[in-house]
Amino acid sequence: MPTRLQTRDISKVYPNGVRANDRISIAVAAGQVHAIVGENGAGKSTLMKILYGMERPTEGEILLDGERVQFHSPQDAIRRGIGMVHQNFMLVPSFTVAQNVVLNAEPTRLGALDVPTANARVQALAARYGLPIAPELRVAEIPVGMKQRVEILKALYRGAEILILDEPTAVLTPSETRELFGAMRELAASGKSVLFISHKLREVLAVSDQVTVLRDGRLIDSLPTSQCTERHLATLMVGREVFMNVQKPPLQRGAPILKVDELTVRLPNGKVALDRISFRLHSGEILGVAGVEGNGQTELAESLAGLRAFESGKVTLCDRPLPNGDPRAAREAGVAHIPEDRLKNGSALELSIAENLIVDRYYKPPFSAHGSLNLRAIRQNAQRLIERFNIVARSPETPLGALSGGNMQKVVLARELSAAPRLLIAAQPTRGVDIGAIEFIHAQLIAARAHGVAILLISADLSEVLRLSDRLIVLYNGQIVAHFEEPSAVSEEELGLYMLGSKRMA
Ligand SMILES: Nc1ncnc2c1ncn2[C@@H]1O[C@H](COP(=O)(O)OP(=O)(O)O)[C@@H](O)[C@H]1O
Ligand SMILES: [Mg+2]
Repeated sequence: MPTRLQTRDISKVYPNGVRANDRISIAVAAGQVHAIVGENGAGKSTLMKILYGMERPTEGEILLDGERVQFHSPQDAIRRGIGMVHQNFMLVPSFTVAQNVVLNAEPTRLGALDVPTANARVQALAARYGLPIAPELRVAEIPVGMKQRVEILKALYRGAEILILDEPTAVLTPSETRELFGAMRELAASGKSVLFISHKLREVLAVSDQVTVLRDGRLIDSLPTSQCTERHLATLMVGREVFMNVQKPPLQRGAPILKVDELTVRLPNGKVALDRISFRLHSGEILGVAGVEGNGQTELAESLAGLRAFESGKVTLCDRPLPNGDPRAAREAGVAHIPEDRLKNGSALELSIAENLIVDRYYKPPFSAHGSLNLRAIRQNAQRLIERFNIVARSPETPLGALSGGNMQKVVLARELSAAPRLLIAAQPTRGVDIGAIEFIHAQLIAARAHGVAILLISADLSEVLRLSDRLIVLYNGQIVAHFEEPSAVSEEELGLYMLGSKRMA
């Protein structure tokens, strides 16, 4: 197939001096799904924004069908047949699906929007590429997966021949992802080009024809997908060998540490977030909690950590009742918690790494004695943990907010594990974190398991829960709808049925 889009030595230096793209040359063929992979900050979105006219390159050129083009705005790019779907959608919530798709290119009748024609055209376009939508619904009322399909249709309606999708699967369930991949293949089969940004290598292997790897703003390699393995791509992305498959020593299940019976949590608005759930968690095991977000996972983590009072039920930790709604008592009893939103709960961005590492224990020796803080002990503690947890930082005094996502998460992990917990609640422990840091975090969780810590792993990343968990439960609508003793034997597809509530175990 002929080359449709080409970049020649594109560089981008942002006004703050960051060189986000450094002489990147890629070629995208017609009829090709071309994946761009790289860790956070590798420069993927920057390159795509340049192709879509949202950013101007500092140097280099873009060729479209062999002809040099310059885009001053997305309108220029759209006019030349380039469409882009962003990570954050840009739709009008009060408009219908069809109105959003045809916006600024509406079919009219006597000067007004011709609604039946708009609905029919949008429906036909959706059917053509296998993107199920409901044209007459208001965007405010539709789920996130459909919003994304609306964005795609909007680009196609404007005649996109090259479609850029920036991390489209981050917000999708497994079945929605499968549908999207079907549509991407359909687009490619009709001769269009799709640029697919992702850092999920398995998805890239499943859907793309060509893979381009970026690292630190540079192009590392571009190769046909048929010549790639997950391991090779991970190595190219990270710049060293990465062990994707966690080596998990055999389970050494100890005594039950956490006993949860008929736990019920009600939200201030009256809604029941957790509905009489019961389970056991033993020393030395990882219990995975899968589910679509918003089905009670957050409330489960928060109530066990003492951050949220539960309405009824019984929770014991090492056979003692867990105080209800008392975070300090929970910590004293041996509960550690990696919160799902580390920017909101896990840490104070303006405080130093050293301070963040003791926020839960500054009042105890050796950090505090005779009513004053022991700054030397605080600094030594930080130095030790920075080294042990491979935290990349200039010094213990560096503010937490100056670190990358992966390093911030390692600080939280270091604090929680150094508290020597009996129970560790790990909520979305690798969200938004690079592959290299994911590998490290997984290894630390496995090590804690080997030391007899009971771990509750809550994650929206199904491959993560399936790989790490010794047992697995699925939450749907505040209830446990499935329970697996052998998670490695469960497929993501099957899990998806329970997560969406279309199946439940008796
Ligand atoms: N508008 C901006 N101003 C300054 N720096 C930016 C801007 N956008 C991105 N960057 C920086 O450029 C680098 C590449 O970012 P980005 O293209 O978003 O990477 P990716 O999409 O691969 O995660 C990062 O270091 C990021 O912090
Ligand atoms: Mg990005």
